[in-house]
Amino acid sequence: MAKLNQEKKVDLVKIAMHVRKWAYVPYSKYRVGAAVLTDSGRIYDGVNIENAAFPVTVCAERTAIFKAVSNGEKDFQAIAVVTKDGGMPCGSCRQVMAEFSPDMLVIVADASGKITEEKSLSDLLPGMFTAKSLN
Ligand code: THU
Repeated sequence: MAKLNQEKKVDLVKIAMHVRKWAYVPYSKYRVGAAVLTDSGRIYDGVNIENAAFPVTVCAERTAIFKAVSNGEKDFQAIAVVTKDGGMPCGSCRQVMAEFSPDMLVIVADASGKITEEKSLSDLLPGMFTAKSLN
């Protein structure tokens, strides 16, 4: 896992905090903001986007990652995720992270920007299924 300085971590958390207000959450009211840092140094943000057909909902982490991938970026250093209470990324989002950057850093913070958890994805998703598993 690449080392990330404190300033960069705080930047990512601030961006995730900032976009959280754009979460589209008429059903759960649970706002999530995310910001992913690519190896090239760019940052893509994302929010959760819910749907009346509940399973169609997309999490904030996946919105951010899909925005990055659809802009030609698929190598990630870190992602910050902000919720009201420091909720952890769901299993589906961890699996999407694993597809691209199994060693990326996952930073979780609460609404005040306080970092509540900071772990490598490989610690959050041990024994992950990746392209290697298909060989
Ligand atoms: N949610 C995320 O955005 N990220 C996660 O990792 C967990 C859950 C969203 C989905 C839904 O809009 C709301 O939080 C409640 O599950």
